Amino acid sequence: MRQGGLVAFPTETVYGLGADAFNERALAKIFEVKGRPKLDPLILHVSCFADLAKVSEIDLRDKRLQLLKALWPGPLTLILPKKSTVPAIATSGLPSVAVRIPANPVASALLESFGGPIAAPSANPFSYVSPTTAQHVEAQLGEKIEMILDGGECQIGLESTILSILEPTPKLLRPGGVPLERLEEILGKIEIAGKDSCVLAPGMLPEHYSPRTKLEFLRDINLASLDPKRTGLVLFSRKAELEKLGFASLAILSENGDLGEISHGLFSAMRDLDRLRLDLIVVDSCATAGLGRAIMDRLERAAKRLAPPTK
Ligand code: TXA
Ligand code: MG
Repeated sequence: MRQGGLVAFPTETVYGLGADAFNERALAKIFEVKGRPKLDPLILHVSCFADLAKVSEIDLRDKRLQLLKALWPGPLTLILPKKSTVPAIATSGLPSVAVRIPANPVASALLESFGGPIAAPSANPFSYVSPTTAQHVEAQLGEKIEMILDGGECQIGLESTILSILEPTPKLLRPGGVPLERLEEILGKIEIAGKDSCVLAPGMLPEHYSPRTKLEFLRDINLASLDPKRTGLVLFSRKAELEKLGFASLAILSENGDLGEISHGLFSAMRDLDRLRLDLIVVDSCATAGLGRAIMDRLERAAKRLAPPTK
C-alpha cells in the first residue's frame, strides 16, 4: 500500500478495497478496478478516534461526535467536514468526508501498521453485491489487485450505517450495521434521506447491491405461476410447506428469523444463487426495524436491479 498498491481486507461489515488515502494514483486505481463512477466518493478508515484529525476539520470535542464515539470501532460511517489535505478524488470533490473506525482485528492491525488513513469502498465491481469472504473478492477482483487479506467471513455481512452530522439535524444516508433506533437513542431526532434526496450518496441509487439474476419478494409472487426447478429461494426462517416445493436451490438464513443471522448470510446466499444462472431468485422479507431496515433496503434495491444480465 505504501507503493500505491491495492489491498483488499476484511471488516466487520464487508470486505474493503484499500489504498493509501493520500495517494491520488492509488485512489484513481480503486475507481478503475471497481468500474466505479468518479462521482461516488470513498469511505476513509482510521485506526483510532484521534486519527479523525488526519482527515476532518471537525473539533474532536464536538458534542455529537463525543456521543457517537461510543459506537466506534463499529459499523458506523460519519460524514464530516473534510480536511483540505485529503485528495479531492477521495471525496469526489465534496467539501465533506466519509470516515469510520472498523471493528475487525485484521482491519485494525492493517490500519495500525500502515499508520495512516486507508480509503476503502466495498471490494466488488460497481453495483454488484458486496463481498463477505476473501473468496468473493478473489473471484471478481483477484487479478486486478495486489493482495487480499483473508480474515474469514465478515461478522455483520451488510455495509456500515452512513450518518451525516454536517447539519444541525443528523441525517441517515444509508441504513446499515448500526440500527437507526440506536442512533436515535443517542442523538434524538434523525432525518432520513429520501429516495429523491439531492444529497450525493450514490449508495442511494436503486441499482446497487444487485445480483444478475432477477430477484423478487416472496410476498409479491404467485407461487403457482413459477417453475421451482428454475427458481432459487432464500428464506429468513423455516417454512416447511415451501421447502417441499422442489426449488432448484434453497437457502435458509436462520431457523427463526434472527436478524443477525440473516444479515450475516444474505450476500453470500445471493452470490451462490446468482452463480446457478436460474431464472429467478425469490426472497423472504422482514420488518424494517433494527437490522431489518438495512436488510430490506439492500433487497429492495436488488429487486429494482438495472444491471445488464451477462447470460
Ligand atoms: O461497511 C462499509 O461502509 C464498507 C466497508 C469496506 O467499510 N464500505 C463501503 O463503501 O460500503 P462503499 O464505497 O461501497 O460505500 C460508500 C458510500 C457511497 O455510497 C458513497 O456515496 C458514500 O459512502 N459517501 C462517501 N463519502 C460521502 C460524502 N462525503 N457524502 C455523502 N456520502 C458519501
Ligand atoms: Mg459499495
